[in-house]
Amino acid sequence: MKLYLKVLFGLAIVVATVSTQNNNCKLTGNSLDNLNSIQRQCTEIVIENFTVPANGTLLLTRLQNGTRIIFRGIIRFEYEEWNGDFIVVSGSNITVIGEPGHLFDCHGERWWDSFGGNGGKLKPKFFKATNLNYSTVTGLNVRNTPKHVFSVTYCNHVVFSNIIIDNLDGDTRGGHNTDGFDLNNSNDITIQNSSVVNQDDCLGIGSGTNCNFFHNYCSGGHGISISTVVENVHVKNCTVVNSENGIRIKTAVNATGHVLDIKYEDITMRNITNFGILVRGDYLNSGPTGHPTAGVIIRNFTLNNIHGWVREYAVNVFVLLADGVASDWKWTNVSVTGSILNNFTCTGVPPNSGVEC
Ligand SMILES: *[C@@H]1O[C@H](CO)[C@@H](O)[C@H](O)[C@H]1NC(C)=O
Ligand SMILES: *[C@@H]1O[C@H](CO)[C@@H](O)[C@H](O)[C@H]1NC(C)=O
Ligand SMILES: *[C@@H]1O[C@H](CO)[C@@H](O)[C@H](O)[C@H]1NC(C)=O
Ligand SMILES: *[C@@H]1O[C@H](CO)[C@@H](O)[C@H](O)[C@H]1NC(C)=O
Ligand SMILES: *[C@@H]1O[C@H](CO)[C@@H](O)[C@H](O)[C@H]1NC(C)=O
Ligand SMILES: *[C@@H]1O[C@H](CO)[C@@H](O)[C@H](O)[C@H]1NC(C)=O
Ligand SMILES: *[C@@H]1O[C@H](CO)[C@@H](O)[C@H](O)[C@H]1NC(C)=O
Ligand SMILES: *[C@@H]1O[C@H](CO)[C@@H](O)[C@H](O)[C@H]1NC(C)=O
Ligand SMILES: *[C@@H]1O[C@H](CO)[C@@H](O)[C@H](O)[C@H]1NC(C)=O
Ligand SMILES: *[C@@H]1O[C@H](CO)[C@@H](O)[C@H](O)[C@H]1NC(C)=O
Ligand SMILES: *[C@@H]1O[C@H](CO)[C@@H](O)[C@H](O)[C@H]1NC(C)=O
Ligand SMILES: *[C@@H]1O[C@H](CO)[C@@H](O)[C@H](O)[C@H]1NC(C)=O
Repeated sequence: MKLYLKVLFGLAIVVATVSTQNNNCKLTGNSLDNLNSIQRQCTEIVIENFTVPANGTLLLTRLQNGTRIIFRGIIRFEYEEWNGDFIVVSGSNITVIGEPGHLFDCHGERWWDSFGGNGGKLKPKFFKATNLNYSTVTGLNVRNTPKHVFSVTYCNHVVFSNIIIDNLDGDTRGGHNTDGFDLNNSNDITIQNSSVVNQDDCLGIGSGTNCNFFHNYCSGGHGISISTVVENVHVKNCTVVNSENGIRIKTAVNATGHVLDIKYEDITMRNITNFGILVRGDYLNSGPTGHPTAGVIIRNFTLNNIHGWVREYAVNVFVLLADGVASDWKWTNVSVTGSILNNFTCTGVPPNSGVEC
């Protein structure tokens, strides 16, 4: 009996090993037809030299617990004007891996018209993580997305690491709203060791708690931004260059919410065109109003060891908040220089905060 069980067990292992390397678990070519059966059968899925058809989504939302998804070779996307997502991933305990040498070659220039998500052609987003928990996404190499790159919504305990986003061509060819990472309704998200070259927020947090952004490089975009309902964000050891802003908190006019327990440390910025550090309560997508409203409090906001320079006609540090909105700020070892403007007067800075502007 014992021997019989052992043999059976051994067989099971052999079968399992074979099935994970089986071509039935590989997606190549350009058809999404087998995607559901692959997700039912396989806990290791290889997606190799695949072209996602027009209007199609690589919908990885029926994954078994513990599935590994491996991208290999060149992944391409056929052209269509639409508002969907190229890739959607949901599940628990999922590992998404980009193998060395792979590339998501999105050819966003087919969509770019400088309107981004605000008009012109409808454009798909690159990667939506939604209802993804206790998972990691690592090593993805992404080039020239039509608009937003990673949208993270309703996710918990997800780590993104060693991601390279290169939307550099968008600078000269009409890339817009190419946000690197957008977080909403998500908790315990870590983004680390990644590089984002784009034309909008490097990191944008709309809502969420416990977000870490460590050891990242941001170039060309709008900086590291936080908006309306956000708690406990830690940004450490990041570099922001050639961007509109370095560090930004922007809360919308008439919004209600709170921005609590925010810490940025060891940040270097260079060649910033608008604001080195910006905290404003008058934000509107169509342009800030100049009149901050008092519905969003900003409490326990720490900056430590922040260095760098902005361009002559940019502003080093600017705070524009309604009275009483800000409290418990602690800024130490902050040195942002370069501006020759002296007509920006900060309002709403809490006393004894170390803020100089
Ligand atoms: C993917 O493309 C690479 C490079 O052209 C090639 O070496 C590899 O065999 C291709 N894989 C498949 C499954 O076609
Ligand atoms: C994409 O979907 C739209 C709307 O259903 C359709 O009009 C269009 O022909 C589709 N495009 C392709 C290339 O299949
Ligand atoms: C997560 O998935 C791995 C396989 O990738 C598995 O070994 C592990 O047991 C899973 N963890 C949980 C908590 O289910
Ligand atoms: C992920 O976690 C959320 C919140 O706990 C839960 O609602 C959702 O069902 C989980 N998703 C999966 C795929 O387990
Ligand atoms: C799936 O994975 C999570 C960890 O991510 C674990 O807590 C849970 O128990 C697993 N569920 C099943 C049905 O294995
Ligand atoms: C990320 O980078 C840090 C600092 O260079 C390093 O200590 C850490 O091991 C890296 N982590 C990953 C997951 O690559
Ligand atoms: C999520 O948050 C960002 C802010 O960073 C915002 O731009 C985006 O529109 C929000 N919504 C969704 C669904 O991603
Ligand atoms: C800071 O991040 C850079 C990558 O941008 C990394 O090379 C370096 O090791 C990190 N430093 C520390 C102290 O973690
Ligand atoms: C500053 O950024 C601009 C693009 O915004 C670039 O052309 C210029 O070379 C950069 N200057 C330095 C000193 O990095
Ligand atoms: C904000 O609210 C005030 C008072 O209700 C209103 O007059 C104003 O138009 C609102 N502003 C915006 C940008 O919605
Ligand atoms: C302030 O925020 C930090 C995280 O940025 C947190 O560790 C600390 O406990 C908070 N302090 C208070 C008094 O809430
Ligand atoms: C400050 O002066 C600059 C340069 O003259 C001008 O472009 C800008 O609009 C002024 N800003 C404010 C807030 O007055």
